[in-house]
Amino acid sequence: MSIRSLATLAPSTRRTAARAAVALMLGLCLPSAVLAQATACDDLSALPITPRVDYLTEIQPIWEIRCANCHVNHSGSPSAELDLNEEASWAALYAMPSLIAEGRLMVRPGDPGASFLLEKLRCEQPQAGERMPRGRLPIPLTEQALVRDWIAQGAREQPPLFIDGFEDEAP
Ligand code: HEC
Repeated sequence: MSIRSLATLAPSTRRTAARAAVALMLGLCLPSAVLAQATACDDLSALPITPRVDYLTEIQPIWEIRCANCHVNHSGSPSAELDLNEEASWAALYAMPSLIAEGRLMVRPGDPGASFLLEKLRCEQPQAGERMPRGRLPIPLTEQALVRDWIAQGAREQPPLFIDGFEDEAP
């Protein structure tokens, strides 16, 4: 190795070491809540995308079947104040802040990966609380993928209209 290449190598090695040190210090100083990351999440990448997911007929039935007694048909006081009964569920989820995961939205329209709702369904250890449905088997991957696609498509309450084969632009 020439002197010249050593001279170019040294500073970059130093920079790498400095970056590692900064990363370590950040890791030690940040409160654990900030570092908490969801772990052991189901991989949905192989599941086909369902186009134009309809909230009322494709998503709401998942809540009715899987979240019963706690968030649906809950005698008036839903778990975690999250009411997923038909007349309340969409408004309770759409762009609503989580009560337990600081800084997170239940559903961030267009961004399934950032939506706490999907994390609660997909991950063994979500950022806060337990995996849902609590104390029951995880919901099937096909249903997780439907929730993913609904969020990715804007998490609409009603799918857009088709007019003469063209999708209506209105939300
Ligand atoms: C057996 C009761 C029970 C069932 C069934 C259940 N949940 Fe929950 N859920 C809870 C409780 C209790 C909490 C608060 C503690 C926690 O998050 O672990 C909660 C919290 C949540 C939260 C977090 C709310 C927030 O403010 O961040 C979401 C989202 C959620 N549930 C979604 C669901 C969905 C969707 C289903 C059905 C697929 C479901 N849960 C099924 C009891 C339940």
